[in-house]
Amino acid sequence: MKPVTLSTLQSLKHAQEKFSVITCYDAAFASRINDAGIEVILVGDSLGMVLQGEDSTLPVTLEQMAYHTRCVKKGNRHSLIMADLPFMSDPSLPALLSNAATLMRAGAHLVKIEGDAWLAPAITELTQRGIPVCAHLGLTPQTVNQMGGYKVQGRGEHAEALLNAAKLLAQAGASLLLLECVPASLGQAITEAVDCPVIGIGAGPHTDAQVLVLYDLLGITPGKPARFVRNFMLDSGSVEGALAAYHQAVKTGEYPAPEHCFE
Ligand code: KIV
Repeated sequence: MKPVTLSTLQSLKHAQEKFSVITCYDAAFASRINDAGIEVILVGDSLGMVLQGEDSTLPVTLEQMAYHTRCVKKGNRHSLIMADLPFMSDPSLPALLSNAATLMRAGAHLVKIEGDAWLAPAITELTQRGIPVCAHLGLTPQTVNQMGGYKVQGRGEHAEALLNAAKLLAQAGASLLLLECVPASLGQAITEAVDCPVIGIGAGPHTDAQVLVLYDLLGITPGKPARFVRNFMLDSGSVEGALAAYHQAVKTGEYPAPEHCFE
């Protein structure tokens, strides 16, 4: 299989063909994810919750993100690797550039950063220096304390502000957008309004791609799963089967179903 690049994802969007994204933190799973044909691996700071047992992503450090990105790179053959800039890695522009460079040197092909319209200048600076960016909007787990919990964003009168922010960040140079926990109608409006591919998690069936946390998809995350989660192990019985079933369900549009979406 040819290595997946940002151009591959852009072509898939133009062809109206869905692609799948999954989180991963180590070499063994990265190799299995490649076997399933999943286009993008996200080394997410969700590792703080699923690997480290923390109750939020805030304690995750840049060094830990770089370590797990290096692990994933060693097992990866052809998926595109996206790595999360952790909480407070953007205290100033020079620090942000240096932190993003650390993740790129560790093996990331692009970085993901959580925020809103205020991210636009930083996205332009990063992309001008050859660091592609995915802007993560909607429910941004690093601001859980400000949001007062993991809640659906962009409902009612807040939809327009989120749509405008998405357009601004795409114009600023974002190569991808990631929308978390927004109404399906807003997911559709943003996907249609921007040229770059849009990845959704709890953002409805109309986004160009879907992402899930690996451990959620395998049904091994403790506690009650979020509404958008589907346990792909139930019908597959093996890790390989679950990964292939997820990829297939995203490609065919079978996932997410209405019960995984927000209004
Ligand atoms: O860190 C992560 O895994 C994420 C996903 C929830 C999108 O940002």
